[in-house]
Amino acid sequence: MPVASFDFSALLPPGLPPAAAKWTGAARYNFIGGNNDPAQIPVDGLIAAATAVLKREGPALASYGARTGPQGYRPLREFLAGKLQRDAGMACSYDDILIVSGSLQALDLINGVLLARGDTVIIEQESYQGSLNRLKRLGVNAVGIPLDRDGMRIDALADALAALKQRGIRPKYIYTIPTVQNPTGTIMPEEPRRALIKLATDYGVPIFEDDCYADLVWDGQRPPAIHALSESGNVIHIGSFSKSIAPALRVGFIVAPWTILSRALALKSDGGTGALEQMVLAEFCAPQFAIHVPSLRRGLRAKLDALMAALNEQFGTAAEFEDPKGGIFLWVKLPDEVDTMKLNAAALAAGVAINPGPEWSTDAAHSSSRLRLCFASPSAEQIRDGIALLADVCHREFGVPARIANVAQRTGS
Ligand SMILES: Cc1ncc(COP(=O)(O)O)c(C=O)c1O
Repeated sequence: MPVASFDFSALLPPGLPPAAAKWTGAARYNFIGGNNDPAQIPVDGLIAAATAVLKREGPALASYGARTGPQGYRPLREFLAGKLQRDAGMACSYDDILIVSGSLQALDLINGVLLARGDTVIIEQESYQGSLNRLKRLGVNAVGIPLDRDGMRIDALADALAALKQRGIRPKYIYTIPTVQNPTGTIMPEEPRRALIKLATDYGVPIFEDDCYADLVWDGQRPPAIHALSESGNVIHIGSFSKSIAPALRVGFIVAPWTILSRALALKSDGGTGALEQMVLAEFCAPQFAIHVPSLRRGLRAKLDALMAALNEQFGTAAEFEDPKGGIFLWVKLPDEVDTMKLNAAALAAGVAINPGPEWSTDAAHSSSRLRLCFASPSAEQIRDGIALLADVCHREFGVPARIANVAQRTGS
């Protein structure tokens, strides 16, 4: 590689996001991101599926879209239509589905179709950083609605919609992660889902349902999708194989009326999502998905138990959390004096990566002593040692957890 002496900086257009930092490897104790459990990737099943589908249909890779059109590989869309009907009660056909490159692309496409600078959207007060950052970059006003144990608070949503209407503002959508919310882990029951649809319908606002954790409810019993409960076609539903199979595959999907899909398709200018991934997924999922996912859930639940035990042991009552009903994250509240942005910097220097609460919220002050921990990718041993190290750092920086209480906890006294 020649020495890079050419200066591109004067050529860069205004408005670019800040330059990415060079990747220097993952932290030793890595509790960040939406990564999955390496031990739970169904490698043998994926190898068998890849071999079978390539032998049978490999020549289709000669065409963009692998001969089944720009909406994605048809057998995968057929699998999804059946699965969404069975699991989430959604009546949709393969033709209502657009396969995309991870649900991150779904967020970009739907935002591209609906949003302009200065628009307003409604979002859960604590929400996915990838969604919050996109809205910020687009210059969109994100109105945060507080959550309780049942997810987005419907009373607060009603107030916000009424207040916005009074100011002549019609939000472009209500974005929600109703089934294992990121980061809080809540699941919105059916009744508030119906109330949400009623409010959205009354105010003429679409609902943007991000359901990428819906396969990871421990007991497998998820409420019907909001998409399934709405009769007016005002719901855009997105999902992903990242959490149920593997995030590095980069395969997600959008279920929406053609008025939206046709616009999203016009913006999806990448020549199609990788067809090999789609073909392997379709081949694997049709017979194996229903066997693989319960086993994945059991493994994740065991890791969650390891994380909660480590937090109880190391932080005692200083760490407060609800036992989530599914997913890959634990949302933790530390005492008010702990600033998790500062804790993050100190922990990272010691080799522990955490997600500080303010980066996952429309209200940085409310989340200043909260943090999100992903328990899916570290091993049980890394969870135990990483949380012990985090407690040491937190004690050094903030005097929390108090050491005497900690010793008392460990000895059971
Ligand atoms: C709520 C939510 N939506 C979307 C995504 C993006 O996932 P992917 O692009 O891997 O499908 C994530 C990833 O963690 C997420 O948590």
